[in-house]
Amino acid sequence: MSNRVTRREFVATGVAAGMVAAATPLFSEAPSVVVPKAPRPVVISSANGNRYKNGGPRTCVEEAFERIVRGEDVLDALIAGVNILELDPEEDGVGFGGLPNADGVVQLDSSCMHGPKRRAGAVAALEGVRTPSLVAKAVMELTDHHLLVGEGAQSFARNLGFKIEDDLNTEHSRKLWLEWKRRTDPKHYLDPVERAAAGYRAGLEMVAEGLIDAQHFWGTINCDGVNAKGDLCGVTTTSGLAWKIAGRVGDSPILGAGLYVDNDVGAAGSTGRGEANLYNVASYLIVENLRRGLHPKDAGIDALRRIKANTVEKRLLNSRGNPDFGLTFYILSKSGEYAGVSMYNAYEGKLAQFAVCTDKGPETLQCEGLLGEAPAE
Ligand code: GLY
Repeated sequence: MSNRVTRREFVATGVAAGMVAAATPLFSEAPSVVVPKAPRPVVISSANGNRYKNGGPRTCVEEAFERIVRGEDVLDALIAGVNILELDPEEDGVGFGGLPNADGVVQLDSSCMHGPKRRAGAVAALEGVRTPSLVAKAVMELTDHHLLVGEGAQSFARNLGFKIEDDLNTEHSRKLWLEWKRRTDPKHYLDPVERAAAGYRAGLEMVAEGLIDAQHFWGTINCDGVNAKGDLCGVTTTSGLAWKIAGRVGDSPILGAGLYVDNDVGAAGSTGRGEANLYNVASYLIVENLRRGLHPKDAGIDALRRIKANTVEKRLLNSRGNPDFGLTFYILSKSGEYAGVSMYNAYEGKLAQFAVCTDKGPETLQCEGLLGEAPAE
């Protein structure tokens, strides 16, 4: 038997030892194989992923990290994490008790991507199911499709045995919707453009008055993870923009926008103004930036610059001519480097933060902002 080490054996040995192969003398014509640093398990999410526990012992990032370290499939672990928020009535931007649409109906969006399997699934404008992330996963696993919406998504879920409820509002979410209705002048119903602007303004007023958490106005948790083998997955789930027009779908269930995972490179996902992200397909852009060798922080800041440059409509600009909205990305590379980046360091008086869990435990950290603090308008 030959003593020659095949390229595959060499790479496998190199990975185990965490070695860089390019400089080895074993090859007279050295192949350009650079073995990445051995990854370490990491879970990253929006800040709400280290806040809500739904009465249980762990937050989303803790739960997902513990399961990943135990050897569970990365996507299963992440979904078990976001389920905590979907089921928690106190988290009014995700799942059960999420802030409803303009008609008072809770419509949920979610997507998931499995890096190693190269598969994805999503649902949009889904009513009556508390855990849309699990329905998105079923779309991924059981169909040849990537996205089911509305009644079709609900009927798919019903057929699989998901419980369908008439109403996912809580007393809290319904009370806030009634307050929004009270503030929205019915006269505006004559003009759909002005009506939408008035509805949006009333929502922002409620944020400014502290009735709605700024981060919950657009709702959402994005959660991405990597295990020690470098397997990457991600999930995003939301009740979407509060008081949206019925049927409005944001960035969360759209692959490349609210979530993108490439198992060779990294993962990215978002919270904040979905329309700004959809126009720029920014999670895909960020992952492509990682592929070019950028650090997660630089990859995300580059995407925020693009979004800022593409924000030209006056109604979307503040007194300084900058985007008048919050948008945050959560970014994870295959080797376990991560960053949270945001349009502003602080928006509506709230610091832009993200959550992470590593072998050091869960932490809530400040995002890198493209711009400083958003001006109070
Ligand atoms: N980013 C959540 C949404 O806009 O629906």
